[in-house]
Amino acid sequence: MPGMRAVIKGIGSAVPSRIMTNHDFEAILDTSDEWITKRTGVKERHLLGEGETSSTLATTAAKQALENANLKPDDLDLIICATVSPDMPFPAVACLVQDAIGAVGVPAFDLSAACSGFIYALSVGSQFIETGKYKRVMVIGVDALSRFCDYTDRGSCILFGDAAGAVVLEASEDQTKGIEYTVLHTDGSGWDYIHVPGGGTAKPTSQKTLDDGEHYVKMRGRDVYKFAVEKMQWLLGDCMEKCNLSVDDVDLVVPHQVNIRIIESATKKYNFPMDKVYVNIDRYGNTSAASIPLALSEAVAAGKAGPGSTIVMVAFGAGLTWAGAVVKM
Ligand code: COA
Repeated sequence: MPGMRAVIKGIGSAVPSRIMTNHDFEAILDTSDEWITKRTGVKERHLLGEGETSSTLATTAAKQALENANLKPDDLDLIICATVSPDMPFPAVACLVQDAIGAVGVPAFDLSAACSGFIYALSVGSQFIETGKYKRVMVIGVDALSRFCDYTDRGSCILFGDAAGAVVLEASEDQTKGIEYTVLHTDGSGWDYIHVPGGGTAKPTSQKTLDDGEHYVKMRGRDVYKFAVEKMQWLLGDCMEKCNLSVDDVDLVVPHQVNIRIIESATKKYNFPMDKVYVNIDRYGNTSAASIPLALSEAVAAGKAGPGSTIVMVAFGAGLTWAGAVVKM
């Protein structure tokens, strides 16, 4: 007898209301709207405002996903939150969300895989359903890297925005729907390509770590770029090959919104027409673990994906991590 499939029953997303445009950066950095637009595709990004945190964004997205799924908080069996920018080192953002939505007693934990985090969490969440352990799993991707950005470093701070996205996975016997395939990879030898050196057990916060700016994101932009193009190309090829899909069979590619040039060079390799590639990087920048569920939620709302659609998701990030998924809506 075939096992259970994990289908996406509801989707939600949230962004803070404060917007920072490229022109706002011109006022504080030696940069220009033209440079940022041409090199990254980003025009503006939403950043946390006063009183907002990763968990407040994640809670809004989670409530929306529950409503969209027509479910109540106590219908959930598990909450997984992918993030590298928690409200505090511990407890997990997932615990704060569990409390805020009133999912009393539901197990909740965070997963750290940076920009690949949502696909990692989707893979973990779907396993709990496929094994029959749980019926409904909330998978959240949230990051607010604005809190870790050095706004004097023009090579990194212009890229990132804050957001959250969430899906509710539900068990189904329908084998034509749901999470069809996931692929996860890591190369820890590239840990220093993108990292925050201070504030952990290696370099606990001290006056020196603060003076040295070690609480900020450090990024080897050009190295990350090369890695990203190669892995995004590989992931697209692997997802299509393993699921026996041609470009025509894929309704939509939802890539990690990292840099328009990276997205274009990866999808061009397989001749994906750009109308089959969801792009919203111009409005949000790189929102790390939130990027894919935010894009998915917009794509569904815009009618670019819906029941019956075949979607390929690809992401990579700090770790180094990279991950892909094929989802039948
Ligand atoms: N405005 C103006 N000039 C800038 C700038 C900015 N915001 N940021 C960098 N520059 C300058 C550099 O100082 C450099 O000047 P130089 O030639 O005088 O030394 C020049 O632009 C080229 O820098 P380079 O780093 O080669 O640019 P690039 O085309 O690689 O673009 C990134 C830089 C960061 C946009 C690009 O490398 C990138 O997107 N990398 C991937 C990063 C990423 O995705 N991180 C998250 C992964 S999940």
